[in-house]
Amino acid sequence: MAVTVSQPGACLVATGMAIPKRVVPNSWFAQRLDTSDEWIRTRTGIRERRFAEPGEQTSDYASRAALEALARSGVAPGEVGLVVVATTVPDMRLPATANFVIRRLGLEKAYGYDLSGGCSGFLFALAGADAQLRAGMARHALVIGAEIYSSILDFTDRNTCVLFGDGAGAALFGPPGSRGNAGILHTRLFSRGEHTGTLGCRGGGTAGRSELASASGHPDRIFMDGPLVFRLAVEGCCNGIRTVLDAEGLAPLDVARIIPHQANYRIIEKIARTFDYPMERIEINLDRHGNTAAASVPIALNEVVTSGRAKPGDLVLLVAAGAGFNSGAILLRL
Ligand code: ACO
Repeated sequence: MAVTVSQPGACLVATGMAIPKRVVPNSWFAQRLDTSDEWIRTRTGIRERRFAEPGEQTSDYASRAALEALARSGVAPGEVGLVVVATTVPDMRLPATANFVIRRLGLEKAYGYDLSGGCSGFLFALAGADAQLRAGMARHALVIGAEIYSSILDFTDRNTCVLFGDGAGAALFGPPGSRGNAGILHTRLFSRGEHTGTLGCRGGGTAGRSELASASGHPDRIFMDGPLVFRLAVEGCCNGIRTVLDAEGLAPLDVARIIPHQANYRIIEKIARTFDYPMERIEINLDRHGNTAAASVPIALNEVVTSGRAKPGDLVLLVAAGAGFNSGAILLRL
């Protein structure tokens, strides 16, 4: 699927984030598995991540991040018309995690739903929200990425469990045209169906139920072909960046800051090299958060906005790739 737009769409109003208190350094894994701080740091760039406590729910983090965005925005809860939560670890199979956020924040005028798009879920959620704001279906949309991946990790598998962290990021978007030429300028999304078996988790789905019935495996745990995911992530992100820049007639350096999905420092380095784009202008926080899947881009966006590393009027490019195999890029003028 590809979406092409040229007029400024939904405008970013405010951002927020919520992360667990518990910091888990690489040494925690080295005490339990055949791995080391050095291996994890040099192969991924991750130094530590945060894990939620047992009993905490994805909607707890989604709600806290959304509340922070709302508090910073000056927008009243009654003005929020849409809530989309990108997650692959919802509180329940139904109702949607978005419904818990709507209840917690008292968003009486909002409708909401969840979106399962893997690590690029936030971009897929934002693309849909942008289209709905453009269509006038809502004035303000809360777009949230929230995950508790620690609940689906196999802590005996060093190939996967060291990579992920928990948390949530939220972005409040307002109507197109409400802030001059600011807004979402261009969106490109891709899915490659031939790679549904490359990265996933069967738990909670019908495939997982069959597996449970045969007692043949651990359906609730992530499976992944790491080197293939690495290659597809680089390809998917570069493809997204290239198609968006080409369509808008922009050079890479016209973008003030690239805000990529935080999977692996080496993936990000390859993207930077492909476009001859300075690493200092790419937002990187995976050393502190690990890969928080659908939460990673909105957490990074929040850190960019609140730190002032990009300012109103700047062009930023959101880029992500992950399970599906999905990827995409969204060009946004702050
Ligand atoms: N500690 C020590 N050794 C490890 C660890 C670990 N935590 N994990 C794997 N190894 C070993 C492997 O078993 C293998 O050993 P072997 O040669 O004896 O078989 C060796 O390290 C090399 O394994 P590779 O998979 O070739 O290592 P690579 O350099 O490719 O790094 C990694 C592996 C980090 C998983 C990399 O492939 C990667 O980052 N892939 C992307 C995965 C990812 O980010 N997934 C997240 C979800 S999707 C997304 O966000 C885009």
